[in-house]
Amino acid sequence: MSHETPATGRPLTTALAEAAATAGHAPSVHNSQPWRWRVLPDALELRVVRDARLTATDPEGRLVAYSCGAALHHARVALTAEGWTAVVERMPDPDEPDLLARLTGLARAEADPEAMRLVQCMQVRHTDRRPVSEEPVPTAALGQIASAVTAEGCQLQFLDRDNVMELAAVASHAASVEAEDPQLREELLYWTSRAGTGTGLPPEVLPEEAPQTTVPGRDFGRPGTLPVGPGHDRAAVYGLLYGDEDEPDSWLRAGEALSAAWLTATRLGVSVVPLSGVVEVAGTRQTLRGLLAGLGYPYLVMRLGIADPAHAGPPHTPRLAVAQVVDTSAVRDAGA
Ligand SMILES: Cc1cc2nc3c(=O)[nH]c(=O)nc-3n(C[C@H](O)[C@H](O)[C@H](O)COP(=O)(O)O)c2cc1C
Repeated sequence: MSHETPATGRPLTTALAEAAATAGHAPSVHNSQPWRWRVLPDALELRVVRDARLTATDPEGRLVAYSCGAALHHARVALTAEGWTAVVERMPDPDEPDLLARLTGLARAEADPEAMRLVQCMQVRHTDRRPVSEEPVPTAALGQIASAVTAEGCQLQFLDRDNVMELAAVASHAASVEAEDPQLREELLYWTSRAGTGTGLPPEVLPEEAPQTTVPGRDFGRPGTLPVGPGHDRAAVYGLLYGDEDEPDSWLRAGEALSAAWLTATRLGVSVVPLSGVVEVAGTRQTLRGLLAGLGYPYLVMRLGIADPAHAGPPHTPRLAVAQVVDTSAVRDAGA
């Protein structure tokens, strides 16, 4: 096994550190970025950081696992783009449940142009909570997005009109349950008041008023400054991401599938907003399970649409500094 990147001759540890840094672009619940990376001479480890400020929103840790899964997929794609293949060990140590993944067995491969395009998509992908435009999402694009999900071991079911109406009822029920929970409201206040910390949601990415939509988006408990315009979600497509199991390692895979879908959507000009309130509330998660009619367990709802081309979307949310999330001390100390 060589420890040099084929195209550039850079050491493997540099490629690992760069892949971990690139994964910082990944989406995460409330932009909490609950991941930490450790670069080893021949491996990259991903650990979850469990933040007490997500206890009410995410008591089981499913949303942080989705978020870490999204970061894991970003890192995998970044390595592939650089010409490395890796063996991914998910939840490799039962004695250390916070160690979510280890990338090992790094071997040379051809740099992959499709992965390079997806790395470019990582830099532009963002959550645009404005209503989508009237332009329909091309069926071929939906097919490619669903295939990206399948390739990650999950499924994406697009909802028909009746199911969208049911989703709308489920989403507003989840929103009212969450609005009545004082601890949950406190957590939202925390994540929407994080200016200068590199985490959380600044006002510029939150709608200045609730958009006119059939399926309500998350109520962040405070208005932002993002103009929403007169649009609706009539042309939006709602997809239910699901899988065979409802366990921490399947949540990690759900996050990888979310990332794969979102990056593919970005490449195809399709805007994505995850709707997770409906899976945070146990009762509405159960109703969604009914929508799947026994096919599997619901992980997340995604709104897909074409963003308003005439107006600028929201700016990028901030990120933590690379040094805060990527630990390279093991390779520095080894002089690698
Ligand atoms: C697991 C997960 C759940 C999310 N749930 C929601 C949601 O319910 N509503 C919403 O508007 N955004 C949601 N988001 C989007 C995040 O808020 C967003 O990814 C984060 O703030 C970073 O911003 P960016 O996507 O623009 O980079 C979710 C993201 C993830 C990964």
